[in-house]
Amino acid sequence: MTGMNLHKRPLEGEMDPIEIATRDEITAVQTQRLRWTLTHTYQNVEHFRNKCRDKGVHPDDFTSIADLARFPFTSKEDLRANYPFGMFAVPREQVVRIHASSGTTGKPTVVGYTREDISMWGQVMARSIRAAGGRRGDLVHVAYGYGLFTGGLGAHYGAETLGCTVIPMSGGQTERQVQLIRDFRPDVIMVTPSYMLVIADEMERQGLDPATCSLRLGLFGAEPWTQQMRGEIEGRLGMDAIDLYGLSEVIGPGVASECIETKDGLHIWEDHFYPEVIDPQTGEPVPDGEIGELVFTSLTKIAMPVIRYRTRDLTRLMPGTARSMRRMDKITGRSDDMLIIRGVNVFPTQIEELILKDGRLAPHYQIKVRRDGHLDQMSIAVELRQGLFDDSAKANAARDLKHHIKSFIGVSTDVLVMEQGEIERSQGKAKRVIDMRPKG
Ligand code: DLL
Repeated sequence: MTGMNLHKRPLEGEMDPIEIATRDEITAVQTQRLRWTLTHTYQNVEHFRNKCRDKGVHPDDFTSIADLARFPFTSKEDLRANYPFGMFAVPREQVVRIHASSGTTGKPTVVGYTREDISMWGQVMARSIRAAGGRRGDLVHVAYGYGLFTGGLGAHYGAETLGCTVIPMSGGQTERQVQLIRDFRPDVIMVTPSYMLVIADEMERQGLDPATCSLRLGLFGAEPWTQQMRGEIEGRLGMDAIDLYGLSEVIGPGVASECIETKDGLHIWEDHFYPEVIDPQTGEPVPDGEIGELVFTSLTKIAMPVIRYRTRDLTRLMPGTARSMRRMDKITGRSDDMLIIRGVNVFPTQIEELILKDGRLAPHYQIKVRRDGHLDQMSIAVELRQGLFDDSAKANAARDLKHHIKSFIGVSTDVLVMEQGEIERSQGKAKRVIDMRPKG
């Protein structure tokens, strides 16, 4: 790929000074902003005020960052209980935008932004794109969905803030995606990693070699994906694949992003989002380096500040490298996605790693779990790569994957190897697990 390396170095002058500030400077900013956020939320959100009173804690008790652990957590249930606008800290008229997450069960979670919040979001997303290797003037194809989901508009405002030319394609219409990539020749794509592969398959169907397409960089997120998947995307499309993280409750995409220089985990934009990792069972913070549940406190959000929001995402915190701010490791999965199969914890990402280690298998897969009597049964459907169609290839690949899952993860599974195109494709977040066990 010509030009790929030209973009590796950050442009010093374009970085926000805080990106390369000292740890002490970052701590000072965080302490001041935490105090403001706790006070603002206490004064304006009744639900938070009541929870503080129950715990016997007041924003005046906050003297240093260590005191944050004395304040109550916020969970998705708190947002649902205050549906739709009960968590807003400003009158609804000051909210210029609403987003909502679909929510698989019950009510969606609703989030709101003031004009200042939208501007801050644009800045952290612009910083993410720049860290990923995007530059002013780049042509950016946004294939995250637009609408209540934060992916499309979050990416869009960030790219505009950075000074890019944006193609607001949204998700779906895969043939059209490829036509626009062919005709407009974008430099950067922003899309879920699973849908990127669907677009690559469509390129091939149209007789275009994905490796020769114009894209030099992709910012992939909204769902867990593995290092093996990075290898697959980079190899197949001849581009740099960078991890981008975020969640609606905290702002949307742009909470953390990898840097192209190092690709070693995602730098959390700690001047706007304060991270903690806790033991999900006890709620106690764990030291940096230990895996647990990621928790965020917003530092500058006005319309809907969140205090100690439990993301349910599992990762660990690590020191900064390309930037001073701490990094989070690639997300292993959400605690809700963890399957417990006959006592063994299994994450879809572990299965993905094993699938992609086998050159015969394509990265399209789905995990089904059902209950047989008292026993949980897991079965995996995965596709063969194009051109490998005979039955013995299928049987051999199935046997080997079953064996690898048993020896590396420790569970017995059924494996069904299918032909290309047989597994349902996503146009956004892939649905990796179908759990057919009775609820409750
Ligand atoms: O998915 C925001 C987003 C859009 C992030 C586009 C990145 C790119 P929600 O729909 O609220 O918001 O879902 C948030 O998605 O708690 C994680 O479980 C998962 N997630 C997001 N980014 C990543 C990532 C958007 N890079 C939930 N790796 C989060 C793993 C991710 N999981």
